[in-house]
Amino acid sequence: MFSHKNIGALILSAGKGTRMNAEGPKVLQTILKEPMLAYVLKTLENVVGENIWPIIGHQAYKVEDGFPRYKGRFILQKEQLGTGHAVQVAWQTVVDQQLDWVLVVNGDTPLIPEEKLEELIRLCISKDADIGILTITLDDPGSYGRVIRDEKGHVQAIIEAKDFDDSKFGQEVKEVNAGVYLLKVESAHDLLAKLDNENRQNEYYITQLIGLASARKNKILALNCGENTELLGVNTPKELVLQEEALRKKIVNKWLDKGVIIRSPDFVRIGPKVQLEPGVEITGPAEIYGSSKISRGAVIESHCYVEDSKICAAHVFSFSHIVETEVDDDVNIGPYARLRPGTRIKKGARVGNFVEVKKSVIGQGSKVNHLSYIGDSEVGEKVNVGAGTITCNYDGQNKHKTIIEDGAFIGSNTALVAPVKVGARALIGAGSTITRDVPENNLGIARARQKNLKRR
Ligand code: UD1
Ligand code: CA
Repeated sequence: MFSHKNIGALILSAGKGTRMNAEGPKVLQTILKEPMLAYVLKTLENVVGENIWPIIGHQAYKVEDGFPRYKGRFILQKEQLGTGHAVQVAWQTVVDQQLDWVLVVNGDTPLIPEEKLEELIRLCISKDADIGILTITLDDPGSYGRVIRDEKGHVQAIIEAKDFDDSKFGQEVKEVNAGVYLLKVESAHDLLAKLDNENRQNEYYITQLIGLASARKNKILALNCGENTELLGVNTPKELVLQEEALRKKIVNKWLDKGVIIRSPDFVRIGPKVQLEPGVEITGPAEIYGSSKISRGAVIESHCYVEDSKICAAHVFSFSHIVETEVDDDVNIGPYARLRPGTRIKKGARVGNFVEVKKSVIGQGSKVNHLSYIGDSEVGEKVNVGAGTITCNYDGQNKHKTIIEDGAFIGSNTALVAPVKVGARALIGAGSTITRDVPENNLGIARARQKNLKRR
């Protein structure tokens, strides 16, 4: 982290992202299931610590809800009148905080490299610049702001693509603005008030600061990062998936290098917070996201989805879907199992095909092998749950608990109408609808008696 105490950061994240064609705020668009803003926040935290203020606007409440840790730090830009306007709105906070330097970063640049931010800060502080920017060089400068330099190479201005006139500047401007600025607070203070919106988009551009600073002979430093694709912005669905794909490859390669077996690696998607141990085996296509943690000895077969789950040395057969679940050692899951939030599958248990488990504990060595729904339940050790068993946990208004104690045997096609308890070593006859508790060691049977009538 940067040692300079008086550096803070603003994140420009108030825009809707019209080009994304999506409903919510652009910075909530995800890359490997994490919102873009989370990436920028993480990187900035490593560089400037806690002094971060994200500027939000379009559906601000959604962004706030997504980042409770940043409660009280969000700055609201009610109307989005441009990137320069966003900084104007946040400026009082910068002044109140008595910051000497403020890093301003586009919220739609998720893969922004930490080293480049640090290099920019170091450079600007050591040279006592007024403004520093990161630039990249692109074969096709597209919709990026063009960096205009004079004959000596000094930066004079940034001209937005829509305002850029080839005949005036020549066509050869391939150096563009990456959307990362380091402002010396005392220099930017009065320049900010001078921004106007006399441009093709009638917006207040942060980029106008460069031209204004240059006009009054301020020191502007541009750190060119070459063709660095990590600094590309995300404005469209295509740009979103390009950045996502770049990160996906990088993460999969990292785990391969660390000794995880990843078969068909091109089809495996692993989130940035996931932790894997060497000796885990994953076969693509597979998706593993959130704060999932998978231990040595685990096998995740193809077409599995795992999110925010902890999986020990278990075998997860194909087509299983696991969210907010803990799976212990020696467990078999699936194929085609669905484990929903709040589930724990204990050592040696089996959860088989077409079985859904929600907010339940399946005890050591217990088996739920076929076509069952276990919800809001506590299942003890060595219980056998027969095919087609359903816990009827919902009465239309409330959820109720089912308790099945150690060694119980539930016959096939049983409906357990909760709240209900099946005692230790109790036996339930197949096809029963159980509405009352069954004491331990009892046989519970609740089904119509079979009649055999002579055919005429
Ligand atoms: C911007 C730069 C451009 C640069 C490019 C790099 C301006 C005027 N242009 O263009 O020079 O090459 O980034 O990726 O800054 N935002 C707000 N409030 C607003 C408007 C935008 O917070 O009123 C936020 C957006 O949510 C976004 C960021 O600012 O995260 C950049 O805005 P965007 O519209 O994407 O600018 P670009 O056209 O990409
Ligand atoms: Ca952008």
